[in-house]
Amino acid sequence: MRAAAFSELTGPDGVSLVNRPTPEPGRGEAVVSVEACAINRHDLWILEGDSAMVDTDDLPFVSGLDVAGTVDAVGEGVTAVEPGDRVVLCPNETCGTCRYCREGPENLCANFSLYHGGLAESARVRADRLVALPDGVDMVEAAALPTAYMTAFHMLHRVETGPGDTVFVPGVTGGVGVAGVQLADALGAHTAGTSSSRAKLDRVESLGLDHAVESTDPDEIRAAVSEVGPVDAVLNHLGGEYTQVGLDVLRRGGRMAVCGRTAGGTSEIDIPDLFLGHKRVIGSTMGTQGDLERLVGLVADGTLSPEIGETYSLEETDAAFAAMQDRDSVGKLVVTP
Ligand SMILES: NC(=O)c1ccc[n+]([C@@H]2O[C@H](COP(=O)([O-])OP(=O)(O)OC[C@H]3O[C@@H](n4cnc5c(N)ncnc54)[C@H](OP(=O)(O)O)[C@@H]3O)[C@@H](O)[C@H]2O)c1
Ligand SMILES: [Zn+2]
Repeated sequence: MRAAAFSELTGPDGVSLVNRPTPEPGRGEAVVSVEACAINRHDLWILEGDSAMVDTDDLPFVSGLDVAGTVDAVGEGVTAVEPGDRVVLCPNETCGTCRYCREGPENLCANFSLYHGGLAESARVRADRLVALPDGVDMVEAAALPTAYMTAFHMLHRVETGPGDTVFVPGVTGGVGVAGVQLADALGAHTAGTSSSRAKLDRVESLGLDHAVESTDPDEIRAAVSEVGPVDAVLNHLGGEYTQVGLDVLRRGGRMAVCGRTAGGTSEIDIPDLFLGHKRVIGSTMGTQGDLERLVGLVADGTLSPEIGETYSLEETDAAFAAMQDRDSVGKLVVTP
């Protein structure tokens, strides 16, 4: 089988097609014929050599978390799925034995890690991490869900979003950003979001964004979002200087969930404003398999239509990463092996 491997950690030009033996399922595993695999900023960090998880000793490395496809074969002891089943993978890898796994939610696992290997024609996965896809759910849409939508869904839960709330999303045009808007909209919340691109904001407005701010400048963003009114919750996947902007626009007692560091891995924050304003900053990573099951249900019943920016063949995987690096697209970029 063919895989789009990272042969060098130099950015999109480090992707090359390699041939690998088709995997055999071990005990508790399934082999999935991959029909779609979405890419995420997480894969791009690896490809740019900016991830502690993968270094040059691990090359060639096959990334890709968000696998949707058809089960080809199952290993010993697998009863939940069988060949021919349409599935999407929950990429959470958890130990199942630590205190956090016992008490839940599972994404708190002390040994938490992520599946990698979806940018290939076949993927060997844990069978109990597969979620069944109803016939009406398209493979490309399904592949969009695990990392971006599951993370945004879980963050909205952590910030206790409800009908009538205002949710602010700095960097609203990418995977997590668009997912945050669509899911907040489905919860009956209002949204404000930012981008450097007017054209991309137009697209996100058509998906439900209520207040678009075309700027990357913290002061301009602070002023524009303050005019919208008090913000109940912030979904912060940018980090850097946008953390304080989010805290500044939050109402007293408001909540900010943080899941990323695209604009910087450290943020300076105003401590008195945080405590005097009773604001909360909440770290959040991925979501639970239950979250993913619910998202599949929302797609199946027509409540949610995940936004797909572009699809790419396996040979074009480098172009998918170049589009993400160049900030060229809205929504999810999906490779269709
Ligand atoms: N902890 C977790 O479980 C988890 C899960 C998923 C994602 N994440 C993290 O969340 C972040 C978003 O992931 P994603 O896959 O949604 O990424 P993505 O699709 O690449 O996000 C694109 C968005 O980020 C904005 N952006 C890109 N570079 C920027 C910069 N230097 N300064 C300001 N804005 C910038 C873009 O703004 P423009 O519109 O102006 O181009 C766009 O709105 C990443 O840091 C990722 O690692 C974490
Ligand atoms: Zn655990």
